[in-house]
Amino acid sequence: MHSPTPADLTITPRDRRFGREGNARWWMGNDPVGTAFYNALSATFPIGETFFVESVRAFRHNASDKLAQEIKAFVTQEVMHSREHVRFNARTLEAGYDLSPLEARVERRLAVTRSKAPIVSLAATMCLEHFTAILAHALLKDTAHLGRADPESAALWRWHAIEEIEHKGVAYDTWLHATAGWTRWKRWKVKAKVMLFVTRNFLVDRSLGTLELLRQDNITGARAWARMLWFAWVRPGMLRRVFGAWVAFFLPRFHPWNQDDRGLIAAAQASYPTLAPA
Ligand SMILES: [Fe+2]
Ligand SMILES: [Fe+2]
Repeated sequence: MHSPTPADLTITPRDRRFGREGNARWWMGNDPVGTAFYNALSATFPIGETFFVESVRAFRHNASDKLAQEIKAFVTQEVMHSREHVRFNARTLEAGYDLSPLEARVERRLAVTRSKAPIVSLAATMCLEHFTAILAHALLKDTAHLGRADPESAALWRWHAIEEIEHKGVAYDTWLHATAGWTRWKRWKVKAKVMLFVTRNFLVDRSLGTLELLRQDNITGARAWARMLWFAWVRPGMLRRVFGAWVAFFLPRFHPWNQDDRGLIAAAQASYPTLAPA
């Protein structure tokens, strides 16, 4: 099957460890809102990435050598991301936050998805991997997002973003492989439906997660909502910035690598040489 994943793309797991010492409570520029936004996202990674790995691996049979290789590298990268986010989340606990309500919510969502056919899990993974890749793109493209973060935490998020861009085509190519016998219309219908569902859940769940962490900082009510929405949609406005790339998913002949953003990886590695492959 034709796929525009660049033929010369190599997915290289970078075995890095970040910030084993404690975190300042508000590691994101001493801002509780930015800190809560990223902490809420990080809380979901170990559970979510485990799910991504199992969903993709379920369809690796009869994959081409190239795709099989890519799946292997994807798995290695995701496992290392989880390892580092487990440590990052442990520092969030040390700072005094309780992440268990956020984790329970992810577990509930994934239990529903896992109860359906395996192709639904792959579709959800493929959609969430697009989501992750466009957030990663925004993160690397504009230094404003992490400009005020503590340097070790910023390095962790940049490292994760680099690898998410690098492996952004893997779940999608696995999906094309798994649905090779489907009509284009059926494939589009399922992927559009799942993307809308996944997006709604992502926005609702991450917002509730951020609000829960703000509540633990005694920031509640309309003020918490306003500050969270401002951060997410206005300044630095990560979600507003990825809107166009999100819409592109629904266009005919979409593929994550229609946007070749390897230049962003190269630029990030040039600025932060410790994030380049060993
Ligand atoms: Fe990841
Ligand atoms: Fe990923």
